Amino acid sequence: MMNSLTDRDRRVIWHPYTQHKGYLPPIPVVKGKDSLLFDDQGNSYIDAVSSWWVTIHGHANPYIAEKLYRQALLLEQVIFAGFTHEPAVALAERLLPLLPGPFTRVFYSDNGSTAVEVAIKMAIQFWSNQDRPRRKVLAFRHSYHGDTFGAMSVSERSVFTDPFRDYLFDPVFIDMPTRENIDELRAFLQLHGPQIAGFIYEPLLQGAGGMRMCEAELLDRLLDAASEQGILCIADEVMTGFGRTGRLFAGEYLRHKADILCLSKGLTGGTMALGVTATTERLFEAFLSDDKRKTLFHGHSFTANPLACTAALASLDLVQRPEFLANIRRISERHQVFLSTLHSYPIAGNPRALGTVLAFEIKTGRDGYINAIGPAITRDALAKGVYLRPLGNTVYFMPPYCITEKEMDQVYDLLVHCLMQYSKQPVSP
Ligand SMILES: Cc1ncc(COP(=O)(O)O)c(C=O)c1O
Repeated sequence: MMNSLTDRDRRVIWHPYTQHKGYLPPIPVVKGKDSLLFDDQGNSYIDAVSSWWVTIHGHANPYIAEKLYRQALLLEQVIFAGFTHEPAVALAERLLPLLPGPFTRVFYSDNGSTAVEVAIKMAIQFWSNQDRPRRKVLAFRHSYHGDTFGAMSVSERSVFTDPFRDYLFDPVFIDMPTRENIDELRAFLQLHGPQIAGFIYEPLLQGAGGMRMCEAELLDRLLDAASEQGILCIADEVMTGFGRTGRLFAGEYLRHKADILCLSKGLTGGTMALGVTATTERLFEAFLSDDKRKTLFHGHSFTANPLACTAALASLDLVQRPEFLANIRRISERHQVFLSTLHSYPIAGNPRALGTVLAFEIKTGRDGYINAIGPAITRDALAKGVYLRPLGNTVYFMPPYCITEKEMDQVYDLLVHCLMQYSKQPVSP
């Protein structure tokens, strides 16, 4: 069929993170329901990656859809400088008390990358507004904070950023804390802290950098050392927010409270694009001045879009229902049980789980994003009705929280099938 959606797509679309030469044609998805995506042939796929980690209540949630419909008939968009509206204010009012820290202000933007851009700009300008500029930003190795230039700058240099290397600013990269290096890291901060404006980190779980986890106690000790030097701590909870790590926010595992917090992805239940950068009053006050140059000159056409804020409010209604945390607990417990299965396969490297995220490496070929095993697993899984998208040879399972027991069994069975298959025939990079 020359005019199938796939053919039309092939003529006009450039897809994200896709090498179009020799690519597998994209699957035409016609609808979604709960954990399932349906293609134009009536096949269904379990969305085992929550559509790039955003879908928390399941696809096409009728409660959110209904609220969106009503809001669309009332006010779909308005410039957010000089104007305000109920969904934006109500969302800030409801969100702030839920956040892990004494946050008092919400700055809206469009997605995770822009939430990070705003956070970095706030941290740098916080110091320059007080005529005490600090020139460096601190970040973790293996971090991923997004694809805009500031976000790329504070992310690990990798195949994602190689062509732009000379155009990115250089942060100070440090390792994630371990029992072995924590004293050294703290000493490093004592020495270099006064030059560092802000420290951006993915709390407890680094996502795109390979689902790497660290202990809360060690991160707390590092963050304490950063705060002692006045460094503004920026928690990037774009991925970890809204239950991913087993609690509503990863910051709930930490004693140390961040100065700035970034959210997106699950914020709207995965329905609409929206970013939030939340800050404390102390930070906000550093921008109050008669001198107009001390303004945060940042904004986007769709800042605080009323539809996106409405979706987020509707999502919060669902987050605050008892079944939300119960489902997260259910998934977390099943992941923990499955870890022992993973341990019995020598080819499964470093099986680990935190909350609703399960991950392991397939020990074949080289570690890294362009290991050929990722696309091979995606192909195998699709044929069995599951959508998985490994990060190179790091396989992970991160479902919408409404996933059924039967669907989870199907994904676990598939993971076992992959392990058995690759135990027999390793794939080269
Ligand atoms: C921790 C983290 N920060 C920022 C981003 C960027 O978010 P977005 O893709 O919405 O720009 C991501 C995306 O995966 C992320 O995982």
